[in-house]
Amino acid sequence: MTERRRLIAGNWKMNGLLADGVRRAAALAARARDALADGERKLPDIAICPPATILGAVGKAIGGSPIALGAQDCHAEDKGARTGDIAAAMLAELSCRYVIVGHSERRAGHGETDAVVRAKAEAAHRAGLIAVVCVGESAGERKAGKHLDVIARQIEASLPPGVAAANTVVAYEPVWAIGTGLNATAADIAAAHRHLRLRLSAFSRDGADIRVLYGGSANARNAAEILAVPGVDGCLVGGASLDVDAFWAMVLAASS
Ligand code: 13P
Repeated sequence: MTERRRLIAGNWKMNGLLADGVRRAAALAARARDALADGERKLPDIAICPPATILGAVGKAIGGSPIALGAQDCHAEDKGARTGDIAAAMLAELSCRYVIVGHSERRAGHGETDAVVRAKAEAAHRAGLIAVVCVGESAGERKAGKHLDVIARQIEASLPPGVAAANTVVAYEPVWAIGTGLNATAADIAAAHRHLRLRLSAFSRDGADIRVLYGGSANARNAAEILAVPGVDGCLVGGASLDVDAFWAMVLAASS
């Protein structure tokens, strides 16, 4: 097993018109460059995932900095009659390194099944992108005590064969914790991550090396506690990633 590098990824969701997004990205890039020049800390991997419309401009704003670009979704097919959809190769052409697939907002709002998510992850891999595959139980599933079964099923059905540490990151995002201010407790996160690691290790030869992030009301105040949970390799950050100070504080919390 190699040491898993931490990753702090910001999912801007449907937020950020051009000027606003470029300003935020440029501010983060400046902080990252300063931190590197300072040389005092070892930064984690950092990614921002803006809306597709501003990927190109945000990519330019972070160019030459250690911040990587990510997208929030891609289509499962490489090209064709798919009005409004975006192929993974199109994202790669804009210098994306990551693409989120299977976010619960897409599973719920766009009817994406595990099979669809898996096909999207495969498309991401074909284009040379790192798929950030999201799983997470609903409030009802947790209440019914089914959360570990649900995430095990999601992980097994959403990951394509050939997943490896170099092409896949998993994000555990309990649906009830997203955007609610109710982050999961350290014990809940530890149990879920332990379970996911076991499933990943059964599924892939690289299972011990694939990074597993936590997402769901992670912010500057709770980041250190979350990052200290065994098995947590970083955070997928929604709301707090829109605030440069908050997001950067989370990056620093993950740095060593
Ligand atoms: P919040 O951090 O706003 O809860 O969102 C988490 C999320 O959905 C990241 O993908």
